[in-house]
Amino acid sequence: MDMKKRILLILIAVAVVAQFIQPNRTAPTTDPTNDMLFMTQAPDEIKTLVTGACYDCHSYRTDYPVWAYITPMNFIIQDHINEGREVLNFSRWNEPSSRDEAHECGEEIEEGEMPPNNYAIMHGHAQLNASQRSSLVAWFNSNMTKKKGKSDRD
Ligand code: HEC
Repeated sequence: MDMKKRILLILIAVAVVAQFIQPNRTAPTTDPTNDMLFMTQAPDEIKTLVTGACYDCHSYRTDYPVWAYITPMNFIIQDHINEGREVLNFSRWNEPSSRDEAHECGEEIEEGEMPPNNYAIMHGHAQLNASQRSSLVAWFNSNMTKKKGKSDRD
């Protein structure tokens, strides 16, 4: 066997073995009554939009696409999800630390920062048209606390 073939086979073997190395995707079970959309009694239209555009990264209700299981994408994607849950976690809205950035939601959507573009391109359910974007902005702005660390009932 020539050198090139041997190197190629080694690379393939490494890539195959790498597929068995997967990030930790386990999410804790949470009480559905602690969910942001439940707690705020969001209307159905808002529920659908927020679930489709934000929940994969900002809740424990993540739907993984098939490519999220391929090494090394899996680690990059999981890292991003962990970071998203860290700043804003709609699954444990009862905890003030999950809501620290809540006041930023409207602005982030308005500026087109959230959902991230590279994610929306790959997920039809996260693509917002102009009217969906403005109803989300209006809803977040009137339902999320303006000040950091305060609950939405303050
Ligand atoms: C693909 C994953 C992903 C999706 C989908 C997503 N986010 Fe994020 N979001 C992140 C990550 C990662 C961060 C933290 C790093 C950063 O600020 O970019 C973040 C940060 C934020 C912040 C904090 C802003 C800041 O700069 O500190 C807010 C507010 C936010 N997201 C709201 C939303 C809302 C609302 C949606 C849905 C419309 C959404 N995000 C959808 C991944 C996501």
